[in-house]
Amino acid sequence: MATMTHGEASPDLFGQVPDRASVYEVSPRDGLQNEDAMIPLDGKRRLIAALVEAGLTRIEITSFVSPKWVPQLSDAEELARSIKPPPGVSFSALCPNARGLERALAVGLEEIAVFLSSSEAHNKANINKTIADTLSVFEEIVPPAREAGLRVRAYLSTVWGCPYEGDVDPKVALRISQQLLALGCYQVSLGDTIGVGNPRQTREIVRLFQGEMPSSSFALHLHDTRGTALANALVGLELGVRDFDASVGGVGGCPYAPGAAGNLATEDLVYLLHGMGVQTGIDLDKLILAGNVAEQVIGHPLPGKVHKAGPFRLRKARG
Ligand code: HMG
Ligand code: MG
Repeated sequence: MATMTHGEASPDLFGQVPDRASVYEVSPRDGLQNEDAMIPLDGKRRLIAALVEAGLTRIEITSFVSPKWVPQLSDAEELARSIKPPPGVSFSALCPNARGLERALAVGLEEIAVFLSSSEAHNKANINKTIADTLSVFEEIVPPAREAGLRVRAYLSTVWGCPYEGDVDPKVALRISQQLLALGCYQVSLGDTIGVGNPRQTREIVRLFQGEMPSSSFALHLHDTRGTALANALVGLELGVRDFDASVGGVGGCPYAPGAAGNLATEDLVYLLHGMGVQTGIDLDKLILAGNVAEQVIGHPLPGKVHKAGPFRLRKARG
């Protein structure tokens, strides 16, 4: 390891970062699916409205999964029918199968997200299928969804590690991602589902993917279970990744991944991006208000930091 001595030029700590990054907000889905309490419809609507007000333009509002598996989101139709995206804003929802697609089409959504894991054991626990069978289901739903005019995103979970199998080979994740893109998904969001990743691993994963596809074909979906999400996002950013998933207040987790908790908090990510000169189109002050709305609606304190600390502003000295 290089040691700094006095008089030496300090190395540039930061590489080039993009001028702009896009934030895909998952709190109404990834956040609320992991709460013990059923959040009333009106609370969900308030949260989504606060996110729109803050300038988020891509919001995952719910899931069309089995209500037996995720009862917290069993009001998906009612919610999607009762709140429409203003111009320039896109609402999406998780969709595991043909029934999910049918439900998404019936409420007029313009975007869905299919999802699977890069480890068999988590895929089985989460959607009760092998990876191969899940891809066969997606072969039956992604092309018709595209033909019906929907945009289709994909999630690939457990890329940094699986709660049941441990280490996951990133080459397996790459191969599955290529299949998802070939099916017609516009982007694969790579999930550190249980928040075990570290920056070195993130660099290896991002570089592996960039060797095979443009950076716009994948996003980073980082859970902050062990406090490494922002560090991993920064590595991605410096390598040229522009798409990040985040959840206001840091709420979230997969109910079928033991130990999964806390997404990267949107306000913490946006604070870092804006501070480094990376534009997002999001109003940080209003995002902080949205974090407060999330806390009120959910009914307990959330782990995000910036909605508690506030943005950095110089205070005038008294007298
Ligand atoms: P199954 O039990 O194997 O499937 O569930 P099934 O086809 O036998 O269906 C069982 C029952 O569910 C049937 O009803 C179906 O009609 C119904 P019954 O006959 O018993 O009355 N059903 C549905 N109902 C409504 N909408 C549907 C639907 N499909 C079946 N779409 C299934 C398979 C995939 C449905 C189930 O395992 C499931 O819903 N899993 C979802 C689990 C989930 O949502 N997990 C959290 C999201 S993933 C995540 O958080 C990770 C992510 O954030 C990225 C990351 O962090 O890595 C995305
Ligand atoms: Mg997640």
